[in-house]
Amino acid sequence: MKVLIVGSGGREHTLAWALERSASVTQIHTAPGNAGTAQVGVNLPQLSVQDVDGLLAFAHQESIDLTVVGPERPLIHDAIVDRFRAERLRIYGPLAAAARLEGSKSFTDEFLARYGLTSKWFAVFDSPAPARDFVRQRGLPVVIKADGDAFGKGVKVCASLAAADEWIDRALVQKEFGAAGERIVVEQCLSGPEISVQVFTDGETFLPMVPAQDYKRIGEGDTGPNTGGMGCYSPIPVLDGATLKHILDKLVAPTISHMADEGTPITGTLYAGCMLTETGPELLEFNCRFGDPETQVVVPRLESDLYEILEATAEGRLKEVTADWSPQRCVCVVMASGGYPGDYEKDQPIEGLPEAEATGALVFHAGAALKDGQLVTAGGRVFGVTGLGDSFAEARRVAYAGVDCLRFSGAYFRRDIAERAELAESGTGPL
Ligand code: GLY
Repeated sequence: MKVLIVGSGGREHTLAWALERSASVTQIHTAPGNAGTAQVGVNLPQLSVQDVDGLLAFAHQESIDLTVVGPERPLIHDAIVDRFRAERLRIYGPLAAAARLEGSKSFTDEFLARYGLTSKWFAVFDSPAPARDFVRQRGLPVVIKADGDAFGKGVKVCASLAAADEWIDRALVQKEFGAAGERIVVEQCLSGPEISVQVFTDGETFLPMVPAQDYKRIGEGDTGPNTGGMGCYSPIPVLDGATLKHILDKLVAPTISHMADEGTPITGTLYAGCMLTETGPELLEFNCRFGDPETQVVVPRLESDLYEILEATAEGRLKEVTADWSPQRCVCVVMASGGYPGDYEKDQPIEGLPEAEATGALVFHAGAALKDGQLVTAGGRVFGVTGLGDSFAEARRVAYAGVDCLRFSGAYFRRDIAERAELAESGTGPL
């Protein structure tokens, strides 16, 4: 089987790595790909993730059996799945109408409220004065979100009226987020640990993946600005089976069935970012694709054939397959360019990759590229270095052994990834 992966991050390298191990996969192309995907297949640097015409032409020309879409942009903005399906090409991901679960915060909040799937209060605004009044009426803190896809920069927790007014102004008056911020959602601010629960779904049935917990802040101890994710681990010691069942039965399953009832079945990956509040789990956000870096700790724990699952999902026969998961602990540490998530330099030579791979760590490339035969930095997040082990202590040891071999100017990573999981597991820390 010939697979085309769309994307260029650590998530896509991880998918390529797992698909290469499938007995049925003979060829992997990644568009545009990175230095890691080049190790397991052929990159298509001329094809960007939003060049749907080019991707369609390539899929026809090469008789691609399955296209797997990594990032959200082509799903939300370019209707890539609609267009592939219209040309009878098999593709893993949701139609654009279902990708609104990620692409529009107001769509999701209104959907959840319509079916009683949330107890969180919220309101939607497209002019500033009523939004400011609502914040004063509800009290602080509040979360204010740009309705659309604002490159992960459109969400702000506001603890003061000044901060809330400023964010409302930036979105609705200064139009800082463009069309994505022409509408905003003001929501109740929740607190508690955040977890990521992902499922494969064909729109009718679903197959849960193992849950994961990521680290969004740049600094150790969860300080500093938000990033795309600085690390991740799976399983989650704070998550008990009953809570996971509650999320699957009371949130994921009804979402899938009501989306189908509304004529917009969600297919591909449904990612529920949940907060474990004192009164129970609450949805923070849905994504309509694999998480990054969640994929780097979830997929290495999959013992079943990933291709079989993705193909069955895309063909609407997910109930025919099962997913077996390793009980091993899995930890991914993200190495970033100095300055990330702000400005950072590119083209820094990278040394130590063979030594890192020799430690047993899985080095998933993100912003890493080959330039004149030299591996160089090419993005904010450069690597996700994953370790597996029978305990979190062992998985962390493996991941950090890999990290410690990789060298590039300005390299930054957190030393505390999965520390709390290790402490919880050893019984010396809070759960
Ligand atoms: N790790 C969060 C995300 O993929 O959106």
